[in-house]
Amino acid sequence: MGKIMLQVNNLNTKYITRQREGVYAVNDVSLKIEEGKSLGIAGESGCGKSTLALSLMGYYFSPLHYISGDIIIDGRNISSMNPDDVRKQVLGNEIAYIPQAAMNALNPTQKIISLIQDVIYAHNPKASKKDISDLAKERFELLGLPSEVLQKHSVELSGGMKQRTVIAISTILSPKVLIADEPSSALDVSSQKMVIKMLRNLMEKGLIKSMIFITHELPLLYNVTNDIMVMYAGQMVEKGSAREMVFDPRHPYSKGLMGAIIVPEAGIKNRKLTVISGTPPNLKHPPEGCRYAKRCKLARTECSIQKVEERNFSDGRMYRCLYSIEELKEAYAYE
Ligand SMILES: Nc1ncnc2c1ncn2[C@@H]1O[C@H](COP(=O)(O)OP(=O)(O)O)[C@@H](O)[C@H]1O
Ligand SMILES: [Mg+2]
Repeated sequence: MGKIMLQVNNLNTKYITRQREGVYAVNDVSLKIEEGKSLGIAGESGCGKSTLALSLMGYYFSPLHYISGDIIIDGRNISSMNPDDVRKQVLGNEIAYIPQAAMNALNPTQKIISLIQDVIYAHNPKASKKDISDLAKERFELLGLPSEVLQKHSVELSGGMKQRTVIAISTILSPKVLIADEPSSALDVSSQKMVIKMLRNLMEKGLIKSMIFITHELPLLYNVTNDIMVMYAGQMVEKGSAREMVFDPRHPYSKGLMGAIIVPEAGIKNRKLTVISGTPPNLKHPPEGCRYAKRCKLARTECSIQKVEERNFSDGRMYRCLYSIEELKEAYAYE
């Protein structure tokens, strides 16, 4: 087994709203990523993917609050560090986060090179402009981006180029963990492909040591990440290799997500399209039993009552459902 770059044990976080209500958006999440590997996180809108990403950085500010759990990056537990140390020592160089819609948040008044200077100065205030410029040029070249972009403002760039530039800026310090939140969702198909190629390139060249790729489209992850985890209502409901998750999903929710979208690249275009009816539960008052029970075609009475534990298997596969593998197989055989 390779070196573990990111290990998360039983992480719980919540928002506290202005009305002083708790929104339990990350519930008991555990995961592990080895050096050189990537993990995809899938789940429909509102299931807690972005909150998990934010929580993983260990840098909490209102309304998001840490409750419990460990976040260990390359052996160092950052969940017990104070926010100031996290900001100075961890963000950007240990773990980098590209937020959803980051490309639209680039400061339009600054040139790209000056945005890169800001990232580097945050960790090394004495860095010289010449060194930064050399590093930026070298990095852009390595990633197949024209170095003229460094002298431009974000408004002069196309959507795809803007997104690739954001990725280059965020990874300039070669972080151990990169979290990319829906990095290709707002782009046209050819720009999406370029973004994904660039992320792979970063991994292959060792410029990032591990990656989390977040999307609402489970099948998209098939060609992008080694492992996939599916989130529902703040919890992890299934985890496995990309191949297993796409071709043999166990949890009824993962199965539903697989049927909801077609991705011809994954060779699964002949699948029947299905729609998951209903909406996810309110995370202010999450259900006692299975959080998916209300929408699940297979649900029986106990599903809404009994607390559902994770079922972990020796090959790293996990799912959270009262049904055994055999029971699920049988149920799916009749679909
Ligand atoms: N700032 C906030 N304050 C309170 N609740 C929030 C806030 N941001 C998100 N939420 C809630 O947290 C849950 C998870 O949201 P989010 O992490 O954005 O999901 P996803 O990224 O999967 O779409 C949702 O119920 C959402 O309404
Ligand atoms: Mg999100």
